[in-house]
Amino acid sequence: MHRHRAMLERLASGFMPARVLLTALELEVFTACGAGAATAGQLARRIGARPAPLARLLDALAALGLLRKSGGRYRAAPAARAGLVAGRPGYLGDIMRHRASMWERWSALTTIVRTGRVPPHVDTKERERGARLVMDVGGGPAVYACALARSQPDLSVVVFDLPGPLAYARETIAACGMGGRVSVKAGDVCAARAFGRGFDGVFMSNLLHSFKPPVAARVVRKAARALKAGGFLAVKEFFVDPGRASPAFAALFSINMLVADAGDVYTRGEVEGWMRAAGVKPLRYVKLPQFSGIVVGRRI
Ligand SMILES: C[S@@+](CC[C@H](N)C(=O)[O-])C[C@H]1O[C@@H](n2cnc3c(N)ncnc32)[C@H](O)[C@@H]1O
Repeated sequence: MHRHRAMLERLASGFMPARVLLTALELEVFTACGAGAATAGQLARRIGARPAPLARLLDALAALGLLRKSGGRYRAAPAARAGLVAGRPGYLGDIMRHRASMWERWSALTTIVRTGRVPPHVDTKERERGARLVMDVGGGPAVYACALARSQPDLSVVVFDLPGPLAYARETIAACGMGGRVSVKAGDVCAARAFGRGFDGVFMSNLLHSFKPPVAARVVRKAARALKAGGFLAVKEFFVDPGRASPAFAALFSINMLVADAGDVYTRGEVEGWMRAAGVKPLRYVKLPQFSGIVVGRRI
């Protein structure tokens, strides 16, 4: 009798560990842990989550053997390091996140069996999630992200930026009522091993000039890796002409970067070269007002 009851209990509760794992993958908890140990507060800042509920999730992951907890710090356990840290060989996170989208469909099972029909909203939601996901790297106050999402109702946008600016991003997102489709992800583009995976598009506006050429090239490479094959990378910058002495705005902006001991202005050719090296084929250049332009390429 006891054996049967235990079996029923195990079957009915089977969703709990799965939900904990899928949420951890959606939040990229294991990738945020990387090879090191971090507190719940540090991880919350890296992934853009609230520390208190995240601590509960982390404890549950430790209970499931996916994290090790010691002295209030968490590190990825061997099983998680073997398949759940993006950028490492053997990464299984993408295919496992697909289970998270299956979850949505499976949640309609009772209705489907009762009525014999698949509720239309299930398919729509799935399409919205799966088909059109864009990351705005260095998206700052999320103004572009909200405008993009507003202009295209089937688009979801993730704003990737340092934790400080994301406080402003959250305000913009709330003010625009875009919380359902625009989200934030905290990280440092230089330190992050990866920005994420499976994006249909990555947008970077006025970010690359913050970095010296080798760093800018690495940022472009990480952006390219975040894309699905066939995904688009769009880079907006104040481009300087190949002779580097015009337009005057760009030449003076170069001085601005020099005195800040930061990056520089770049030519369209330099940015396109970094794209090609990252496996992205430049396709178009869109000239914008105020000495700006956008190079658009497609991941091969
Ligand atoms: C000039 S602002 C551009 C903001 C927005 N993309 C736009 O075009 O209006 C540069 C943005 O890049 C972000 N940024 C600079 N260095 C960064 C880094 N190492 N990691 C993540 N974001 C960074 C800044 O916080 C800022 O939001």
